[in-house]
Amino acid sequence: MGTSYTKDKDRQSGLGMACPATRLSLPRKTRNQNGNSVNSKALVIDGKRRVLISGSIHYPRSTPDMWPELIQKSKDGGLDVIETYVFWNMHEPIQNQYNFKGRNDLVKFVKTVADAGLFVHLRIGPYACAEWNYGGFPLWLHFIPGIKFRTDNEPFKSQMQRFTKKIVDMMKQEELFASQGGPIILAQIENEYGNVEAPYGQAGKSYVNWSAAMATSLDTGVPWVMCQQMEAPDPIINTCNGFYCDQFTPNSDKKPKMWTENWTGWFLSFGGGIPYRPVEDIAFAVARFFQRGGTFQNYYMYHGGTNFGRSTGGPFIATSYDYDAPIDEYGFVRQPKWGHLKDLHKSIKLCEEALVATDPTYTSLGPNLEAHVYNTSSENCVAFLANVGTQSDATVSFNGNTYHLPAWSVSILPDCKNVVFNTAKINSQATRLEMRSLNPIPEHQTSKQIIDSFKTLQSDWSWVIEPVGISKSNAFTKFGLLEQINTTADVSDYLWYSIRIEIHGNEPFLLNGTQTVLHVESLGHVLHTFVNGKLAGSGFGNSGNSKVTLEKPIMLVLSNNTIDLLSSTVGLQNYGAFFDTWGAGITGPAKLKGKNFTLDLSSYQWTYQVGLKGEELGLSRDPSGSSSQWVSLSTLPKNQALIWYKTNFDAPGGTDPIAIDFTGMGKGEAWVNGQSIGRYWPTYISPQNGCVNFCNYRGAYSSSKCLKGCGEPSQKMYHVPRSWIQPSGNTLVLFEEIGGDPTQISFATRKTGSLCAHVSESHPPPVDTWELQPQTGKKLRPVLRLECPSPNEVISSIKFAGFGTPHGTCGNYGYSQCNSARAPAIVNQACMGLKSCAIEVSIEMFGDPCSGVTKSLAVEASCT
Ligand code: GAL
Repeated sequence: MGTSYTKDKDRQSGLGMACPATRLSLPRKTRNQNGNSVNSKALVIDGKRRVLISGSIHYPRSTPDMWPELIQKSKDGGLDVIETYVFWNMHEPIQNQYNFKGRNDLVKFVKTVADAGLFVHLRIGPYACAEWNYGGFPLWLHFIPGIKFRTDNEPFKSQMQRFTKKIVDMMKQEELFASQGGPIILAQIENEYGNVEAPYGQAGKSYVNWSAAMATSLDTGVPWVMCQQMEAPDPIINTCNGFYCDQFTPNSDKKPKMWTENWTGWFLSFGGGIPYRPVEDIAFAVARFFQRGGTFQNYYMYHGGTNFGRSTGGPFIATSYDYDAPIDEYGFVRQPKWGHLKDLHKSIKLCEEALVATDPTYTSLGPNLEAHVYNTSSENCVAFLANVGTQSDATVSFNGNTYHLPAWSVSILPDCKNVVFNTAKINSQATRLEMRSLNPIPEHQTSKQIIDSFKTLQSDWSWVIEPVGISKSNAFTKFGLLEQINTTADVSDYLWYSIRIEIHGNEPFLLNGTQTVLHVESLGHVLHTFVNGKLAGSGFGNSGNSKVTLEKPIMLVLSNNTIDLLSSTVGLQNYGAFFDTWGAGITGPAKLKGKNFTLDLSSYQWTYQVGLKGEELGLSRDPSGSSSQWVSLSTLPKNQALIWYKTNFDAPGGTDPIAIDFTGMGKGEAWVNGQSIGRYWPTYISPQNGCVNFCNYRGAYSSSKCLKGCGEPSQKMYHVPRSWIQPSGNTLVLFEEIGGDPTQISFATRKTGSLCAHVSESHPPPVDTWELQPQTGKKLRPVLRLECPSPNEVISSIKFAGFGTPHGTCGNYGYSQCNSARAPAIVNQACMGLKSCAIEVSIEMFGDPCSGVTKSLAVEASCT
């Protein structure tokens, strides 16, 4: 049976089965989309209502060789479903020319998810948003006569339908829908249109209806969702996106309460601080959602990955799309985020049968204190107790027992009696992830020793100077200033605007004899001005306002002068009503200003060049083919704008993920063996203020609540996928736009540093001992667990072990007066030389160093 949703109580037999993460057989060859007419609680798979935990992994943001491990780690983290958008502009960069290869191999990705025994939520869109270039739309779409995006417009609708159908047909052909026995249990049409619908008026409403009918007509046999679309027409399920969705209710009681984007952090912008979201708050939000009747929840992102090439939208979205997700950009589990959520997922799964069977009954336990009980029979009772206050912990009475509820936390009681999990009490270990820097690339091969220790054999740098102004044969002239995206069709970030001015010496706009002021206004995103071949001034916008206005005193010479303006984009707009028409580039005015006179050049004849000479020569794609261009004989030019650099390198040894540290460079794009690792911009520094040393998880989160890295480059490390390089003889090419020193570039590898855990006597026992509880007869206690993340490593040192009231955080734990002297020996004995260890946190184990006080065990260890 395919997936559907229903509240039909007769079909509930056999609920509460093992989570689908462990089940390999998927529904086979039967179709069913009959849930539309009945009340609903949950998605129904194989005839069973399901509680489903989902996580977003966008296939082009990692490489195919990373997919199996990312998906396995997702499964190990307790996910049932992997969610991805479909990125139209990656698949059809040129109209009717498709690309489903490599990172674009959607079918392979879906099958890899299926191979792991997980389900797929396919968000076809085809509008994606997703901080993706142009929201996922291919640029050619913009040039179709009469087209208007995302509204009741025939040219748009026919293209949207064609592409949506193409993807659906492709999935059907491979039998990937659950109705065909495949993993896809859910599909999405459009994306958050409700957020921007109002300005589209009546045509917007018609478009929503059309989208719904079009999607339904494709007959996938699985339900469709529209997120953030209160008026989603039946049978489309409207779903919620946000940091919290417990207050959401779908627009019909026939539809289940679903949360398609729970933001696990936030995206990084060039020029911004690095956002992070504490796991206690994420767990709180998730538990609240299930507490209040939700049955499907998706983490956006579970693994964010990397915006390779020119795929970022924005503008000004950084190349890293790490997102502070449970699996980091490089594929490491981020702890304790991943582990705490894993414990949460197990706890929620213990409640599945009750959650899908009935609606909860709400009781107030006091101000800010809420109990929700799912009671299906005398044996099946599940309770969620919440303290939604932000200030004080509370002790509540419930069913005759008392419970400690920290502020902003939820306790889960799968039997209405014992707490299996509290969102604010972390049992999971933490890991410190580090970038370990390797030697800078030496300018010359001076020392054999450097080469041996680093194994990154360098040849010298060579370079090609990118000409200022017009140098390509495709240049053309036009009167007036042209909007950039309409002119370049985004084939390049760059557009040159060039004008010649003849000066006789008596022009009224000349200040003080020869000096004048150049005034240029641009929609963004970056502007460089050159006068007679020399850089006169630069400016750039930011993620809040991409516009640039430059006003620079310049020196003009008698007779001919050339003013060359280079405008560059940093990812096209991806969000907002009519975002496709917002534009970029120098739309003016562009003026020469004197004391009492202004010469407006805006409507003069300008010469235009789309892209760079080096792009035309293929310097990045085919560095050896273009070898005659590269110079290496004279002194390496440094801190020079508009220059291409090239070098060779050997891969850092081992298998750790690799990054390039671009400290020392300005702004540009980098290619490894012809593959773009993205735009780099280490000189864009985040503001000095706005960061917090300690992020208080209590209270509503917002994207700017918790930032780190203030006053530092927003991004200096750039991921180089291992699969893109060979052990030796790799080529690195850079296009540097504003000037830098390539000899300062270095490699780094991603490593796990210390492991830490800090577990209190007041924490619940591990969730996976829950089932043992009735058998053992004795009260189970909390346990501190450590596990080396890499399979070949064992615990090789215990840096700290304290039982009592140890203080501090991972990396700087300290002892207090209340401290058991036995702790280091016990922990050493239990853990040294092992891949993992578990220690009961109790006074029976460690003795009681201070009675009447709640004690905890803190351990820091390392693995080798
Ligand atoms: C949502 C959108 C996603 C992504 C997210 C922010 O509104 O649906 O695609 O852009 O915001 O990361």
